[in-house]
Amino acid sequence: MLLWNAKWIKTMVRLFTVVMICNFAVCTFAGCGGKEEGGEEKQEAQPTKEEESTPTPIPTSTPAPTEPAKEVRTDFYISSLDEEIPSMCEYWKDYFSIGIAITKGELLNDFKGELIVQQFNSMTCGNEMKPDALLDREATKSTGTETCPVLKFDSCDEMLAFCVDNNIKMRGHTLIWHSQTPDWFFMEGYSNKPDAVFASREVMLERMENYIRLVMEYVNTTYPGVVYAWDVVNEAIAPGDGGENGMRMSDSLWYQTIGPDFVEKAFEYARKYAAPEQKLFYNDFNTYETAKRIAILELVNKIKDQGNIDGIGMQSHIGMNSPTLLDYEETIRKFGETGLEIQITELDINLDSNSEEDFMKEGTRYKRLFFTFKNLVDTGAANITNITVWGLTDEGSWLNKDGKRYPLLFNQVLETKPAFWGVLMDEGIPLY
Ligand code: G3I
Repeated sequence: MLLWNAKWIKTMVRLFTVVMICNFAVCTFAGCGGKEEGGEEKQEAQPTKEEESTPTPIPTSTPAPTEPAKEVRTDFYISSLDEEIPSMCEYWKDYFSIGIAITKGELLNDFKGELIVQQFNSMTCGNEMKPDALLDREATKSTGTETCPVLKFDSCDEMLAFCVDNNIKMRGHTLIWHSQTPDWFFMEGYSNKPDAVFASREVMLERMENYIRLVMEYVNTTYPGVVYAWDVVNEAIAPGDGGENGMRMSDSLWYQTIGPDFVEKAFEYARKYAAPEQKLFYNDFNTYETAKRIAILELVNKIKDQGNIDGIGMQSHIGMNSPTLLDYEETIRKFGETGLEIQITELDINLDSNSEEDFMKEGTRYKRLFFTFKNLVDTGAANITNITVWGLTDEGSWLNKDGKRYPLLFNQVLETKPAFWGVLMDEGIPLY
């Protein structure tokens, strides 16, 4: 109801503006395909690290005398409910897929579902495919065994079916994680009592293998071809936490029950049961922190030597100023040197202001990020295959606990923000 009211009021107010920008929009976006097409975006100078530290204007070609003066977009708040907006996944189709992390409730909202189908060709379940959503304790206690739990998939079934119906591929998030995995899964007899004791390493290895097998078997037989990448292990590195080789220890029951080789074992089992075309990822946050980056590289190179990993996921929950793009790019380059695929799996920018000026700065940061991704792909420095934003609207963002965060590309009435146009490399968004 709120959305429809907003729609009609805004339609009237915007009528004049829409007519004004119409010609411009057609001009700007009609030929924006990427590498294969000769659009203007392709002719832009590529950013280098030096350019980032010492900003220089981007050279533009001088229009021929007969060419009409080019209009630059000034209205960035376009209602996706009322008007045609360009598609991000179409724009970037020759570079990488564009993904969305979403919860079931949001996905099944008609307006949001329609927008998602138009804008994204990759999806991640925000919570619905995590162990706490899939593990069924009651069924495990009654029909499972000490080494084999029982799972349920009602949390993610509709999301997988949505992907099938709409030709969207899914990142499977996430198999082995210290968080959102219930404590009882690590206990003898799956006990949830305060005096429960850990199951042995041998039992936990079998539970891990069976868990991975059951998830993959179900998803791959019920929805064949939908999941193209699995986050096999999430957030296992936390230098300074006391674990071997920079591993997270204090809050990881996987580390505490199995030991530091739990990551390698998880990838070994994942490879065993994954469909041949499915890519296996190690995924983590703050990957640009030096100690963390070094520990991740050590870990993934070991697993790469075992033949059991295909990619590194950089979550990328970043701030407006931190990390610097230089540090961020440096990490992608270092990860790229492994020869593994790189995916930006959980991008958002923790903006805590809704001033017009800050929205534009956020648009600039998104634009610079995508400029960097494009440059790294064009130069062969990194095989970046997916960019996923962690949420659709600011309102629904996991960051927005205080109601004052604006990290994403759409606002609560599904209008585009400058951030959206930044992703599309729109000329109205300054690059510096
Ligand atoms: O399911 C319960 C519900 O029963 C209860 O009433 C409600 C009360 O708060 O909580 C619900 O659980 C919440 C859950 O999301 C499902 O909505 C948890 O409190 C809440 O903490 C949880 O947050 C999720 C978070 O992971 C937990 O770690 C976020 O939605 C989700 O976006 C976030 O995603 C993670 C990635 O998986 C990994 N990288 C970091 C990223 C952001 O934290």
